[in-house]
Amino acid sequence: MLITWWYLYLAARSIAKKSLKMASILHKLFHPLFSGPPEPPRNKVTVVGVGQVGMACAVTILLRDLADELALVDVMEDKLKGEMMDLQHGSLFLKTPTIVADKDYSVTANSRIVVVTAGVRQQDGESRLNLVQRNVNIFKHIVPQIVRYSPECIIVVVSNPVDVLTYVTWKLSGLPKHRVIGSGTNLDSARFRFLIAEKLGIHASSFNGWILGEHGDTSVPVWSGTNVAGVNLQTLNPNIGTDCDDENWNETHKMVVDSAYEVIRLKGYTNWAIGLSVGDLVESLMKNMNRIHPVSTMVQGMYGINEEVYLSLPCVLYGGGVASVINMTLTDDEVTQLQDSARTLWDIQKDLRDI
Ligand SMILES: NC(=O)c1ccc[n+]([C@@H]2O[C@H](COP(=O)([O-])OP(=O)(O)OC[C@H]3O[C@@H](n4cnc5c(N)ncnc54)[C@H](O)[C@@H]3O)[C@@H](O)[C@H]2O)c1
Repeated sequence: MLITWWYLYLAARSIAKKSLKMASILHKLFHPLFSGPPEPPRNKVTVVGVGQVGMACAVTILLRDLADELALVDVMEDKLKGEMMDLQHGSLFLKTPTIVADKDYSVTANSRIVVVTAGVRQQDGESRLNLVQRNVNIFKHIVPQIVRYSPECIIVVVSNPVDVLTYVTWKLSGLPKHRVIGSGTNLDSARFRFLIAEKLGIHASSFNGWILGEHGDTSVPVWSGTNVAGVNLQTLNPNIGTDCDDENWNETHKMVVDSAYEVIRLKGYTNWAIGLSVGDLVESLMKNMNRIHPVSTMVQGMYGINEEVYLSLPCVLYGGGVASVINMTLTDDEVTQLQDSARTLWDIQKDLRDI
């Protein structure tokens, strides 16, 4: 007993000595002009879920200098702390001065943007609806906590199935629809632009093409709007994207739909392209850029869609979320495909419980 007290006394004395030393260095080094509380963050971003996708998003946000504070949340405490420490150790090479992490959502307080990448993956033989319901149950825990600590935030949902989970997030959060966004077909469009640009021998940014609708099997390539430097590809090949096209350009859309499965088969998951594409969305929102991206938004009432569904259309992203949706001049066939995409999503959503 005596030994224990002696140890406690020594430990307390050593801490007191250290803080005295610190205090004296602090006093010698700085001449304070202000002694109020520290400045709160003005451009804070939270990433929920520090798996492969969450960390690719986090690194992109850091490397593009988009935040003055980055918060990470996950339920796996060791992994969370490890990822936080690893990023903090790179502070010398970054311009985000504060990187924090905790499983408690108070760490996310006052975020401007919250990116949600948490979720479970499909198990062998598990139906899509069952996976959705399991992810809904996870989101029922996550979303109220996000809104509790950052009632003014914009939520960007990345977890799959992204369109359905964005709808679920909108319902659970009570936020206005322009502040709940799904990453949607931003990634599908990036893949489309890369693949076609590669065939044309130009940079991805110089081929303009949009994939809309569901992020997944029923996504809609807008062939009528594809162009390079304003030259419409459909005027050069009226059959582009159809079964009668002897150049078989539609193969590229099939490759877009299959590419996630292909990358997962090869490396187990996809993360870099989604991380880069989410970083691009966060930049438009953070910097109030009014850039247009294909992201998942509430489309009820547009293009004859009556269901309350989220799917991707070209959206103007500003500092407050989605400012507006572009009314594209789609062909009748493209509108029908969008409506089919909406129906597919509604068929899943209508059976969800407790949202
Ligand atoms: N929208 C897209 O284009 C796109 C692209 C790729 C992946 N994804 C999706 O992103 C999600 C994440 O993929 P991943 O490869 O990073 O998976 P992962 O398994 O590597 O990471 C998921 C993380 O979520 C965490 N998590 C689980 N429940 C949680 C909870 N209640 N609160 C906080 N964190 C929780 C896990 O601990 C894990 O760290 C998946 O749903 C995947 O399908 C979407």
